[in-house]
Amino acid sequence: MRGPRWGVLTLLGAMSCGSGGAPDINGPASPAPASADTIPLRTLVAQRGRHIGTAGDRGFRYTGSDLTRFRRLLAREFDLVTPENDMKHERIHPARTQYRFEPADSILAFADSAGLRVRGHPLVWHRQLASWLTSGSWTPTEARALLQDHVTTVVGHYRGRLLAWDVVNEALADDGSLRPGLWLDLVGRDYIELAFRAARAADPAVALFYNDYNIEGVNVKSDSAYALLREFRARGVPIDGVGLQAHFVAGGVPATLGQNISRFAALGLKVHITELDIRVPIPATAAMLQTQAQNYRDVVQTCLSYPACEVVSVWGLTDRESWIPSAFPGFGDALLFDASYQPKGAYFGVYDALK
Ligand code: G3I
Repeated sequence: MRGPRWGVLTLLGAMSCGSGGAPDINGPASPAPASADTIPLRTLVAQRGRHIGTAGDRGFRYTGSDLTRFRRLLAREFDLVTPENDMKHERIHPARTQYRFEPADSILAFADSAGLRVRGHPLVWHRQLASWLTSGSWTPTEARALLQDHVTTVVGHYRGRLLAWDVVNEALADDGSLRPGLWLDLVGRDYIELAFRAARAADPAVALFYNDYNIEGVNVKSDSAYALLREFRARGVPIDGVGLQAHFVAGGVPATLGQNISRFAALGLKVHITELDIRVPIPATAAMLQTQAQNYRDVVQTCLSYPACEVVSVWGLTDRESWIPSAFPGFGDALLFDASYQPKGAYFGVYDALK
């Protein structure tokens, strides 16, 4: 990897102090202009015909100048955003007859103002389900109707506005079997197909994805995902792509990532890297951060090698917001920007790969 571009570092450093080249933004965000030596990732990625994304919640957990800074950096560098939690069942469907779209709608309004596309995430998952659903007692027929209603209503609300939906998330266990959970237990194994068919009926244009973790390389779990999606393609179940979440540990990117992308692409599927982060033990050493930067570069380069791989999206903007420290005690610093909004070696790894 080449050394840091100090021009980029300087601009972003100045932006984070509120005095950079980008206009101060109150309300809707807009991307800062790129200059010859400070090319935003979104400009580089557009030249490659792909998207570079990140994730966050309504208000991105900030207010005031922190929020302005967050939105400005996000809009400058990325052309895609995924609501990290605001479209999940418990948030968007808090009571059986009540949907609450406002938080996710506000992310879409921000995205529209900044020229970002949006990935919807997720429609059907075994986690973060509303308590009215998990505490209820449902017959299989009722459960099918509840799933159908949820997918139809949420996809319908955003019809025509999203790049893609993660229709079903994490349906497989690490051994490749179907993961137990409310939908499998109540509806049975065809809940996955049911969700895809309902999503297609509600929005004929949006790309429909199966999304999971530990399916980035060739292994028993990705073999199972491959078999499932191949069967769906053969039977005409509406599915357009596979999301490889890509929650990695530095030094642990699977060597078979490209081979795996290639086999899904051969099914006629798009491939999105949907939740990329590369965690390191903290406090991070310089050597670890260098490994991390190289890993980011390799993942992006690998994606670029396959036309079907049209999105690389990281799971959060800065190390200040990342889910990693609470989920993996002793690990952190997994993203492209540090907690002070400064670009890390990881950022320049992505930059080099796109350039
Ligand atoms: O918003 C509430 C807040 O009101 C409350 O006070 C606080 C107390 O715990 O919780 C807040 O909600 C938390 C939410 O993140 C927002 O910060 C939840 O507890 C917490 O569980 C939730 O974690 C999310 C996690 O999914 C839960 O499943 C992470 O932010 C989110 O990054 C993570 O994302 C998942 C993807 O959706 C699917 N793939 C794996 C990935 C990582 O687990």
